Amino acid sequence: MDKAGAAFDKGLVKRLWVFVAPHQKWLWKGLGLLMLVSACRLTMPWLIKLAIDQHLSIGDLSGYYPLLMAFAVVASIDALLRRSQQLAVETGGQNALLDLRLALFRHLQELPAAYFDRTPTGRLIGRVTTDVEALQELFSSGVVTILGDLIFLIATLVILFSLHFKLALVAILVVPVLLALTMLIRLRVRTAYVSMRAKLSEMNGFLHERLSGMSVVQMFSREEETMVSYAEINHDVRGAQLKTVWWETCLSTTVELLSSFTVAIILWYGGGLVAENWQQGGIRGGLTLGVLFAFIDYMQKFFQPLNELSLKYTVMQNAMTAARRIFDLLDEAERLPETENPQNPGEVVGEIRFEKVTFGYDPKNPVLKNVSFSVAPGEKVALVGATGAGKTTVLKLLTRLYDPSHGRITLDGIDLRDYEVRDLRKRIGLVPQDVFLFEGDILENIRLGNVEVSEEKAIAAATRLHLDQLVNRFPGGWHEPVRERGRNLSAGEKQLISFARVLAASPRVLVLDEATSNVDSHTEHILQEAVHDIMQGRTSLAIAHRLSTVRDADRILVFHQGELAEQGTHDQLIAEGGLYACLVVLQYSET
Ligand SMILES: Nc1ncnc2c1ncn2[C@@H]1O[C@H](COP(=O)(O)OP(=O)(O)OP(=O)(O)O)[C@@H](O)[C@H]1O
Ligand SMILES: [Mg+2]
Repeated sequence: MDKAGAAFDKGLVKRLWVFVAPHQKWLWKGLGLLMLVSACRLTMPWLIKLAIDQHLSIGDLSGYYPLLMAFAVVASIDALLRRSQQLAVETGGQNALLDLRLALFRHLQELPAAYFDRTPTGRLIGRVTTDVEALQELFSSGVVTILGDLIFLIATLVILFSLHFKLALVAILVVPVLLALTMLIRLRVRTAYVSMRAKLSEMNGFLHERLSGMSVVQMFSREEETMVSYAEINHDVRGAQLKTVWWETCLSTTVELLSSFTVAIILWYGGGLVAENWQQGGIRGGLTLGVLFAFIDYMQKFFQPLNELSLKYTVMQNAMTAARRIFDLLDEAERLPETENPQNPGEVVGEIRFEKVTFGYDPKNPVLKNVSFSVAPGEKVALVGATGAGKTTVLKLLTRLYDPSHGRITLDGIDLRDYEVRDLRKRIGLVPQDVFLFEGDILENIRLGNVEVSEEKAIAAATRLHLDQLVNRFPGGWHEPVRERGRNLSAGEKQLISFARVLAASPRVLVLDEATSNVDSHTEHILQEAVHDIMQGRTSLAIAHRLSTVRDADRILVFHQGELAEQGTHDQLIAEGGLYACLVVLQYSET
């Protein structure tokens, strides 16, 4: 949870300005319009003062109606300009925030896999949404035009004091009290608001999780318990919401009370002066009814920006906290080191070598230990081993999601670190263990927006995997919609789409993390054929859970607790009677 911090940080403001500067013309326009608006607001009470003193109080209506017309015109201009002013400031702000969000996302896409391992997704989403929203308030609440507000306040004071010095002194008596009280209550409002936001996000998290896992809730008849937990969080949310309302109403009441109080003070003191003036037959310099009215009107106009000052203060505080977090993320410099002189061996042959590779997600805790092996061009190699043995990790190193801490990995004799990352990933296609489909349609999920993969190419690749037979059953065909994470498709269908995605990009080297999930025997058969098919003529490295994939391989690498324990063909390893033989008996006995 964020604590209240400084409302102004020069360093942060400077960095924010980098995003605002290209759109600053909007802010200047807003500020210019604000000056005009302020002028209108200052004119209106003056016009009424004239109306009262020069016409109404002496019963002379000549020239009275033009004055009313002038008032109506100034009021209309004021309303229209106010709108244009808000629009200008918000346009500038929204443009700057658009750039900021794009910069954030571009940066996020450059961060390595290791960063995402340790950072919760929810927090990153918060940076791009909630924190950017907090900055947006800078513009919507008009903090950026605070300069204009100050000028308005000073101008009002000058007018009040020149109208009647003593009455002005009395009228602003309440101002320090108002400033102190609103500032105090605002802090409470903010604390309540922060805890309400935390409760709300807790509730959203709960909702998100339970809705995604609704089938488990229903299958295990956990509806009652889930309801109870949800109700508990909901009570907290209600409590937190009411607390913010409590403090907010407290604030508005205080402001209203003090502003009425000021009117009363003006009427009390000023009223005395007006009466005195009447009794003495309207001496020069005495207080007139028009001036008294103008005082009340000016003071009420004075209170609005004054009251907003404390609001703007907390908006600034929130914005600074958000900006700090956003820039912390933008400063996150963790990267896969990119080589200065990328090597490009032209045509890929597809020879892979692991040389004494050691790696751990946590460097102190190696997951792969001193692993060495090589794969000849066109060779089909299967990786087997118990859960957690490090098989997937081998593939992640090969696609350079991570770099080994010791040793090196080469493709066609060149260290992976000497390739340009994009170039490397074009040569190696990965079918991951968990299929991830995006919302869109089937064809889009195969092409993934890659311009090099035309629709025809994508359909050809999918047809090679016999995906067309499945797709033809859908009313939308290749354009059948795919819902979030591919929820509306079966496990086998999703895997085939994932295969087609890689095959369509036709990489020279194929790495495949075979899914452990069971599919029906017909789909199983299709998947087997698909795997067999996409491995043809390519160097391939497949983590195999199905005996058929293992048997199909030219060579089998057996991993055990991060080490390469055995290698050879199926028959050789069975004959050796070691780990592999045990695995086969345990895992594949039913087949
Ligand atoms: N992102 C990660 N951060 C930290 N540790 C990880 C991460 N991914 C995997 N590990 C750990 O590394 C070890 C090897 O994991 P790996 O995914 O390579 O196993 P695997 O052989 O593919 O297992 P399975 O057959 O179950 O898929 C495991 O102990 C796992 O807990
Ligand atoms: Mg795995």
